[in-house]
Amino acid sequence: MSQATQPKNNELAQAVRHSFTLTDNETGESWELPTLHGSVGPKVIDIRKLYGQTGAFTYDPGFTSTASCSSEITYIDGEAGILLHRGYAIAELAENTDFMDVCYLLLHGELPSPEEKEQFDGDITRHTMLHEQLVRFYSGFVRSAHPMAIMVGVVGALSAFYHDSTDINDPLQRMSAAHRLIAKMPTIGAYAYKYSLGQPFMQPLNDLTYSENLLRLMFGVPTQEYQANPVLARAIDRILILHADHEQNASTSTVRLAGSSDANPFACVAAGIASLWGPAHGGANEAVLNMLEEIGTKERIQKFVKKAQDPDDRFRLMGFGHRVYKNYDPRATVMRETCHEVLKELGIQDPKLDLALELERIALEDPYFVDKKLYPNVDFYSGIILRALGFPTNMFTVLFAIGRTVGWISHWKEMMESSESRIGRPRQLYVGKEERPFTAVAQREHTEKRSGWAWLWGGNRKTTDA
Ligand code: ACO
Repeated sequence: MSQATQPKNNELAQAVRHSFTLTDNETGESWELPTLHGSVGPKVIDIRKLYGQTGAFTYDPGFTSTASCSSEITYIDGEAGILLHRGYAIAELAENTDFMDVCYLLLHGELPSPEEKEQFDGDITRHTMLHEQLVRFYSGFVRSAHPMAIMVGVVGALSAFYHDSTDINDPLQRMSAAHRLIAKMPTIGAYAYKYSLGQPFMQPLNDLTYSENLLRLMFGVPTQEYQANPVLARAIDRILILHADHEQNASTSTVRLAGSSDANPFACVAAGIASLWGPAHGGANEAVLNMLEEIGTKERIQKFVKKAQDPDDRFRLMGFGHRVYKNYDPRATVMRETCHEVLKELGIQDPKLDLALELERIALEDPYFVDKKLYPNVDFYSGIILRALGFPTNMFTVLFAIGRTVGWISHWKEMMESSESRIGRPRQLYVGKEERPFTAVAQREHTEKRSGWAWLWGGNRKTTDA
């Protein structure tokens, strides 16, 4: 990690108040493990010196009990269903601010003054166009390419264009990279859609808001004026706010891990986009719509709710459950309201929404979901809104990526400014072969003697037909 870093307030605020004692039952040896206390939230046992002192690692696949860093950006209390950005409740932000306000808040730590807001809006607006050479990248993709595949490629390629934003040790260049990423994501995403249709790419307009521009880039055509409906632009703005950050989720942790090796911010955000694409993460909004399609009618809901409970079936109710929330996802509550507003404005009676509401009702009364505290998450409703707004299913995760970019880059920036950061390099519990003598090829066992599929899958991979 670079030497040009300064300590952050949150690091200084962490005082050691008491300790945990770890005892080896075999040898009777014991060690004191200090605890760290954040401003709010559970205490954290500091195990940084554990291996050096005890020769033991901790085991935590999926990081369910591991704080990988300290952060001032976002706080979640999953039991209580609380989400705060820089101390502000998500519902208040969604109600009273716009996405640019939230971007500024996440990046800088405070809501902007009127002058700061004007300056920030201008900084973003002036970076929305794409370099003409970058636009040529699109024609290298097949028209049927998934837009997330295009996003990973084009965002990664930004590092080839903006050499004046890749010096990670220069705070001005870090901020310039943040502005460029936030500004260009709607253009990059919308062009992926336009390319799939074979329609001309639209140029962003400087007198439109971020969300109006996004709608115009997506749905405008050069042959006529595009007038964004303010209710729909507001709905897009809210969706972006609700997706802006969510502390150390899989994609943000991916961005941090990629950045921990001092990789440039464009490459790190491309890695985050790749992680977001998976259906267990940002791909869930697309998966919810596909699932509702598959369920088809209300009469078939019970069958799918039961299928989701079968331990031998990999099917899960998409849009349900969360690693952190064991209560209603506060973003889902706002999303549900926005969903009704949008459908009312557009005068749409969407049978998918009726199906979703009935599925939600049945699942929330089912003992399996109640006992495991599985509630609808943010993705449960976002797909229905985006569908009503005219976004094709495969663009849903792109919208998520556009909103989350500010979260990724704020975490990356925070990490680059922290004196605590080191290259991320987890250890492992090795369960493979111990050292053994090498066998020449002629003396090796023939493959068919080994047990077929178990050999191919390593013997324990979960498959739907296993
Ligand atoms: N449907 C059915 N069962 C579920 C579901 C679900 N959606 N989610 C969790 N469970 C069950 C698991 O099978 C597990 O059961 P077990 O205790 O009998 O083994 C238990 O609930 C706990 O689930 P885990 O998988 O251990 O929880 P984890 O924190 O690892 O996973 C995740 C969280 C990935 C979100 C999971 O709930 C899921 O796959 N949900 C569906 C996909 C989804 O909606 N993802 C979006 C998440 S929000 C976001 O990324 C913005």
